[in-house]
Formats: sequence, C-alpha cells, structure tokens
Amino acid sequence: MTNYNFLQPTQLRNGVTIKNRIAMSPMTEMSSFEDGSITGDEIDYFRLRAGGPGMIITGCANVNDLGKGFEGELSVAHEKMLPGLSRLANAIKLNHTKAILQIFSAGRMSNSRVLRGHQTVSASAVAPERLGAETPRALSGEEIEQTISDFANATQLAIDAGFDGIELHGANTYLIQQFFSPHSNRRTDHWGGSLEKRMNFPLAVVDACAEVIKHSDNPHFILGYRISPEELEKPGIRMADTLALVKELNQKPIDYLHMSLADAWQGSIVDRNDQQPLIEKVQEVLADDLPLMVVGHLASPAQVAKLIDAGVQFAAMGRELIREPKWVQKVEAGDEKAIRYTFSLRDLDELKVTPPLLNFLRTAFKKGFPISTDERQIRI
Ligand SMILES: Cc1cc2nc3c(=O)[nH]c(=O)nc-3n(C[C@H](O)[C@H](O)[C@H](O)COP(=O)(O)O)c2cc1C
Repeated sequence: MTNYNFLQPTQLRNGVTIKNRIAMSPMTEMSSFEDGSITGDEIDYFRLRAGGPGMIITGCANVNDLGKGFEGELSVAHEKMLPGLSRLANAIKLNHTKAILQIFSAGRMSNSRVLRGHQTVSASAVAPERLGAETPRALSGEEIEQTISDFANATQLAIDAGFDGIELHGANTYLIQQFFSPHSNRRTDHWGGSLEKRMNFPLAVVDACAEVIKHSDNPHFILGYRISPEELEKPGIRMADTLALVKELNQKPIDYLHMSLADAWQGSIVDRNDQQPLIEKVQEVLADDLPLMVVGHLASPAQVAKLIDAGVQFAAMGRELIREPKWVQKVEAGDEKAIRYTFSLRDLDELKVTPPLLNFLRTAFKKGFPISTDERQIRI
C-alpha cells in the first residue's frame, strides 16, 4: 500500500465522505440506445472502472428531448429511463465508489438531424462559431421555466435511480454555459443583458435541483457544478465573469466545483501573456469549505499528487481511466509499473471500449489519447 496524498479520504461540503481524491471525469461513451436508455455495453464499461475512484461521474445525460446533443447520448428526460439508470448507478457503486450522474442540455451545440427535424434552442438566436453550425431559436420565458423544471425532474429521477449525486454540466459550451456567455446570450429580459442577469439561469437551475434534494429522502445527495472558465469567442466568458460566478456559487448549496480544463495547470487561453494557472485564480475566491475538482491531462501518480499538494481536493481523470481502468487499484497496490499510458487496439474488448467511443477518441480527443504502434497494423 502506498501513501500518496490522493489516496486519503476527504469530505464534500455536505459532509459526505469520499474514499479518495480521484474522480473519473464525465465522459460520454456515445453508446446509448437511440432513445437515450443505457446499453449493456455501457454498463460493462462502468462496471470495469467501478471500485477504484472515489467518484465516477457519468457522461452527460440530457434532461429533455430538445437537450440532446449527439447520437448515443444518455438521457434522464423520462420516467422510462429509470430501470436503466438504476442499473448504471448499481454498476458504479462498487466498493464505496460514489455514482454521480452528469445532467445537461446541449442547447445550440446540437443540430436538426439529432433533434429529428426540430431546430436547436439556446438563450438567443446566435449560431456557435463552428463550421456548419445551425442557428438556434431563442427559448421563450415559459420554455426557460420548463427547462429549469426539467433539470429538477432529472435530479429526482437520479435520486430514485439510486445515484449518490448529480453534476450540473455548466461547462464545455452547453446550454447552462450558453446562458452565462455573452456570445450566446443576447437577451434583455430577466435572463440576460448584464453579467448578473446572465447568471440567473445557471443559479436558478442550481436552486431548483437543490430544492429537490432538500425535500428528498436523501438529503446527503451530492450536487456538483462543472464550469469552463474561459471562452475564446468575442464577446465570450472571461476570467472576471467566472470569478463573479464562483462567488455566487459559493453561496449556493453545491458540494463541489469542477473546473473543466484541457490542462490542469493552464493559464489564460484568452490572454496568452497571463499564464498564472487558472486554478489559482479560482482558489483565491473559492469559499474555504467548497471543494475544488480539477481535470486536464492528469495521468501519472506524481502529476495527481502535485495537484493535491496545491490544495485541490479532487483530481478528475478522463482518458487515463479509459486506457487504465484499474489505475487506483494499481497505485494502491504499489504496482505503478503496470499502469498503462498508451492504448492498444488489441485491448478494445478487455477495456470495454465500444466502436463509437473509440471513434470519438480518435477524432475529437486524439491529443492525449496515444494509441500504440498497433494502430499501423490493424485496420478497423
Ligand atoms: C470520450 C470523451 C467524452 C467526453 N464526454 C464528456 C461529457 O459527457 N461531459 C463532460 O463534461 N465532459 C466530457 N468530456 C471531457 C472530459 O470530462 C475531460 O474534461 C477531458 O477529457 C480532459 O480530461 P483528460 O485529459 O483527463 O482526458 C469527454 C472527454 C472524452 C475523452
């Protein structure tokens, strides 16, 4: 048994003990059924990774049908998803690993094919800056209220399914972030127009989900919130906006704050002259009792230990836990030499990596997912 700092238990803000400081970062497997219900392949994938990390956060699950962002995405939009979600929660909750369901709406980061002919929706009718992007329609006031209720309903379903918590996906340019962003939110009503008003939707979603938890039979249900601290768009989210949001989130009953970063130690992506790590800027304003979770190219025990030494409570790991499902167990056993840092196509079955997930990794997430030389020999 090794005694790395990240193997020590810790507590979330609501007092729930997490057995170690490792979280599996939310990663969709693109492998759900067309209606968003879980497949056996996905259950197998999570079961293989359960038991090691203190928390496993699932890939994003849409809270309503218009929130679907891509094919193979998980859904928590309807009661009928409950049996599948229960299987998922059960598969993860092995050896005290906490099961966290990430919930979201894709908003304008979708398209009319995925939405079966429907136009995408967002805070305002502004297309994302990417090739071939469709222009969304702005949600009406009534639809915004309904969307907030959909997040609350999804929270209730997650509780009923036996999850230990949810994570609100306020990052990676999806709907919650779209309301916070001055690029996608050009509204002039209660939901936009100033920095304060752009926070109204994210904060209303937090309040609605917290209310469900408070009145549930599991008041220790975990509520996490994921942010992306900056956007490149002009106008776009800048660090000053994010620090203002963090100060508001400090006041809310959330149990951890999760920073979505490409590299855990990255400086500003907007101002290349300012390379102070963004995590330090957030730590300066974060409430003392609100745990921080950070992700981004963490692979070796030394990298994770350094992050925890810097006062970050949780290290989230994504691609490394795809290629090495037993990362935590191997570190615990002092068997670090056995940790895999590259991925071989020969291990697809063993690692329960489905073809759609592999395809996604080889396109959108190639950097940071080194595939061994087998790649040149095998055609798939
Ligand atoms: C295959 C894949 C799917 C992902 N899906 C999600 C997702 O559903 N929700 C989310 O917030 N982030 C998602 N991400 C981003 C990861 O959570 C993480 O932030 C990113 O991979 C960087 O961490 P890493 O360097 O440890 O892989 C995904 C990443 C990958 C590789």
